[in-house]
Amino acid sequence: MPRGFLSAGALLARGALLAPLSGVTDLHMRRIARRLGATATVSEMVAAEDFARGTEEARLRAEGEGVLPHVVQLAGCDPHWMAEGARLAEANGADVIDVNMGCPAKAVTGGQAGSALMRDLDHAERLLAAVRGAVAVPVTVKMRLGWDDATRNAPDLARRAERLGYAAVTVHGRTRQQFYTGRADWAAIRAVAQAVAIPVVANGDIAGLDDARACLAASGADAVMIGRAAVGRPWLVAAVAAGLSNETVAEPDAAAKADLAAEHYEGLLALYGARMGVRHARKHLAAYADHAGGLDRDERTRLVTTTDPDEAARLLRRAFETPAARSAGQAARPETQAA
Ligand SMILES: Cc1cc2nc3c(=O)[nH]c(=O)nc-3n(C[C@H](O)[C@H](O)[C@H](O)COP(=O)(O)O)c2cc1C
Repeated sequence: MPRGFLSAGALLARGALLAPLSGVTDLHMRRIARRLGATATVSEMVAAEDFARGTEEARLRAEGEGVLPHVVQLAGCDPHWMAEGARLAEANGADVIDVNMGCPAKAVTGGQAGSALMRDLDHAERLLAAVRGAVAVPVTVKMRLGWDDATRNAPDLARRAERLGYAAVTVHGRTRQQFYTGRADWAAIRAVAQAVAIPVVANGDIAGLDDARACLAASGADAVMIGRAAVGRPWLVAAVAAGLSNETVAEPDAAAKADLAAEHYEGLLALYGARMGVRHARKHLAAYADHAGGLDRDERTRLVTTTDPDEAARLLRRAFETPAARSAGQAARPETQAA
């Protein structure tokens, strides 16, 4: 079995994965989420052709050092380039290749990639076959319920993937035309779970353990995938994964969260360089600060606008300080901190 992931579905049974979020689930976020106990993480989507042609941005997105299993998600509409991208990702150490058939963005669907592939399942199948044929590692596919309400063809696409030897499918419980509006329809994912024997991962609007349990009950899926709710809280996916296996993992205390946020931030500065890193980190900084709750409005504005990495790091730490620690002018002792 190639690098030991997904073939038996054992890892996915009751698992919780960090979703691919373009511009967000960078190497360091994935590394932290996985280290804390997320079942797996998935890279941001990587444009297969750009990656195969060697662009720096695509290379960074596909980076996976220290993330095991290393799942690289490829996006594109041309079977040739998807296969080339998959080959290169495998050669660079990917443990699993995931194919993006869910992205709703016009920039992606306009090029007939992402969820646009669900409009032509014969073409989608050729693309899936090309990727499957290009690599020895397991391959998976992430999709939506369909393009629109009239064509909810995720079960058909999942069956085609299964026939081609795909190891698992992920379904975001919305159609493309919904983009991110309304609520994810977890019950609609059940039609996919009933259509295939391979593991199905359910995704959309899962914000914690209760949601994850409700989603699994409604969908009949094997595992859940969490995206937006984990931004600024990379420990959330581990907590859900543990909870689904009836274990508990202690939520990191405020000092540990501050350390993780700082590690993430410093990692981004190292990955992208200080100038780009501080910009790239802004959405993470804002999310960490908002969940931590320790900054006033002016400080938050400063955190997400400063171009000074040291100032951002200082404010990020401050976001996690308790009022007591603030007035003492030092970090609070762990036992006095709110988790
Ligand atoms: C900012 C952003 C970027 C995303 N990028 C990707 C991506 O690169 N690949 C992908 O398959 N889905 C992508 N998605 C979709 C998510 O993986 C996920 O399916 C969706 O957000 C629903 O899950 P959630 O409610 O847990 O966030 C993205 C979503 C958002 C909000």
